[in-house]
Amino acid sequence: MVMSIVILLCALFASTVLSHDHEGHIFHNHDHHRLLSQEPHGCGFQAPDKATIERLAIAQEERVARIEQERAITSQALFRCNPARSDTQVVHIDTYIHAIEMTNGTGFLSDAVLEQSVESANKHLLSTGFQLNLISMNRVTSDIWYISKWNSEEQKAMESQYKEGGPNILNIYYKAAILGSERYCGYANLAEDAISAGTQDGIVMDSNCATADAVLAHEVGHWMNLLHTFDGGCSPGDLVDDTNAQASYYTGSGYDCPDPLPDTCPDQPGRDPLDNIMDYAPSECVDRFTRGQARRMQEAWRNIRDA
Ligand SMILES: *[C@@H]1O[C@H](CO)[C@@H](O)[C@H](O)[C@H]1NC(C)=O
Repeated sequence: MVMSIVILLCALFASTVLSHDHEGHIFHNHDHHRLLSQEPHGCGFQAPDKATIERLAIAQEERVARIEQERAITSQALFRCNPARSDTQVVHIDTYIHAIEMTNGTGFLSDAVLEQSVESANKHLLSTGFQLNLISMNRVTSDIWYISKWNSEEQKAMESQYKEGGPNILNIYYKAAILGSERYCGYANLAEDAISAGTQDGIVMDSNCATADAVLAHEVGHWMNLLHTFDGGCSPGDLVDDTNAQASYYTGSGYDCPDPLPDTCPDQPGRDPLDNIMDYAPSECVDRFTRGQARRMQEAWRNIRDA
């Protein structure tokens, strides 16, 4: 059976491409991080349904039971004195950037912008125990690869040519982030699908969103197995205990964080976690990861990516 790969995207439209909605309203381009007030169709693309999320939950339980038990047996038998890996130790993820631009210069990003995007992601990731360790920035000029779509033969060729390392190495492609006929700020596959994705395992960031705060951190969250806080609705939800249940993402407009916060799952405690990096929310809402998300990322690292 072929398992389909879940691709999660930051449905923040790349500003220069979709600066108008379907009725022709112009959005505020400087706030390209949070242009979410329009159509939900983007989020629906490859978004995991309840059955997929339940499959992810079962896979995780089985993985933890199997691998952690094996590890306990091995360490008892062989390495009794080995110090356990500390949970507070920061994990540095070796990261390769591939910056694609067109022959006429469209998509060009300076070293400073690329470095700044990693620094900004690292600031948000600090609380999770992960940091991106930028190894190299590879520059590629190709009109075809710049506009290639997710899962197209062109993009697969590009990825298989440039992808470095295995599942514990992060490859980020800066280019136009196009899925189907829409352009987004970025997308990524889950850690869960790292092996089946093979050379397609990685993050695609739209070059127009390179300076948008928290977009790369959001995509790293997916790459480390985090769902959106609203994925799975009120139940089963995002498989993280300490993010309040959320039926759907915020559809209001403007930059201000709504006060009070909406409550799309009124039968469950707490209001919608619009302060979460794995949500879509106005730019004035704080961006953070929770401890539960950090634990989910650590499990994915230990048992999938760095296993
Ligand atoms: C480069 O070419 C693309 C595709 O033809 C076009 O959309 C873009 O506006 C051009 N950029 C510049 C800087 O001329």
